[in-house]
Formats: sequence, structure tokens, C-alpha cells
Amino acid sequence: MLAIIGGTGLTKFPGLSITHRQVIRTPYGEPSGPITFGELDGHPILFLARHGYGHTIPPHLVNYRANLWALHAQKASHVVSVATVGGLHPDLSPGCLAVPDQIIDYSHGRETTFADYGEAPVTHLDFTWPYCEEMRQRCIRALNLAGEGFMDGGVYACVQGPRLETKAEIDRLAHDGADMVGMTGMPEAYLAREIGLCYAAIAVSVNWAAGRGDSANCISPEVIETTLANVMTRLRGVLANLACMSYAVETPGNSAR
Ligand code: HPA
Repeated sequence: MLAIIGGTGLTKFPGLSITHRQVIRTPYGEPSGPITFGELDGHPILFLARHGYGHTIPPHLVNYRANLWALHAQKASHVVSVATVGGLHPDLSPGCLAVPDQIIDYSHGRETTFADYGEAPVTHLDFTWPYCEEMRQRCIRALNLAGEGFMDGGVYACVQGPRLETKAEIDRLAHDGADMVGMTGMPEAYLAREIGLCYAAIAVSVNWAAGRGDSANCISPEVIETTLANVMTRLRGVLANLACMSYAVETPGNSAR
């Protein structure tokens, strides 16, 4: 079954007909909220608001392990993350979308593995291509069906937040090869890999990154708000296209490129 993790701007989901909500207990503590079981255009999906339904949990305090464990426990096989980003790449002006294929992780102090110390032998999973290619291709199909333009691929830089970056930090990320910057892509993508969820992200640019474009001197919260509201309306159609696809009952793990 498909699970949607909604980020900033997608804490509620108009158009989703809700069957029920369930609080899931996990060995890793509390998820960001109850899992919503619902139907999108008649197709069952799971939904979880990453920052809580009241948007009260900052990126560095999201319990990524509990969230993914809970979705997996409720029989999710595929996960799409909707993630807001600041655009560095010229094609990622506010309102533009991307399906990234690479990550650089600059976050710190987060729980990065399900394998707690002493519990199981240490493993080093392959993470060369951090997103599940099967799910990336589903996102691409859903965006194409909805007639949305988007960037296929790109490097997502995950920063700690909750503050936005300095211009010099963005210059450094650009120098490192980043195309977009967000705060929640990691460890979420890696934990999905560990637990065998086929995971990809649709990144939504809501502002030029600091020092770029109309963010040359500051990033305007109003621009972010307005862009978010517009894009999320468009994204509902894309998510409905994703929900219409059939998903294997058995967890497929990860499909390589
Ligand atoms: N930086 C980091 N995360 C973000 C940004 C940004 O500019 N915009 C949306 N999420």
C-alpha cells in the first residue's frame, strides 16, 4: 500500500476521505501523530503529517524512526515524501517541482538507524542511490499524467534547520553540487532503506535558497506561504495519480537503478 508523508504545507489533506486514524506504538517512541487511513479517489492510502497535524514538530525533532516503523507496521510498501525545499538549481524557482535522485546529508544529532547499539550486528547498507528507483519512476509517471513540469533527478542537501541558511552556506552547498536544500530528507530516506520501504520524494521549491534570486537579501515568509498554498493544490492531483497505481502487497524492499 502507498503511504504519503506530508511535510510543511501538507499537514491536512482535503480530498482525502478518512476511514479512521490510529495511534501506533513503536519500539522507537511516538510517531509524529496517528496514522490516517483513507481513500484518495477510491484508492486506499496511509497518510502521516511529518511535523504533526498542528505543524508543531521541528525537523530536527521529528521521530523519523517511529514514523517509518509505524507506516511499515501498517503494511505500507511504498512511501512518497512531499518535501519543501529552497531552490539552488536555476530550474528550481519557487513553485517548481523535482524528483531528486541524490542526497548529501549535513544534518546531525538525529537517530540514523533502527539498529540500536548492541541489539544486532552492525550492517552497512548500500546507499549509492538513496531513493528507490521504482518509486521515483512512479512519481515521474504521476507528475507527467498531471501535466506537471518537473526536474528529473537532482541533489537534495539535507540541513539541520530549523533556521534557514546563510548565503555563504548556500554557496558552499552549491559548490558541493546541491540543487535543492531541505531539512527532513535524512535520515528518513536511509531509514526507509533499512526497513525495506520503497521510498522517493517529490521536492517542492517554495523559495530561492538564501542569496539566490529574490532571496538575495532575505527569504520572505510571505513568498513561502503563497507558493506553498498554490503548489499543494496542484500536488493533490499528482498524489491521486500515485494512489491509483497498484502496489504489491509484499514489501518490495528497494529497487536499484
Ligand atoms: N532551506 C532549507 N530548507 C528549506 C528551505 C530553505 O531555503 N525552503 C524550504 N525548506
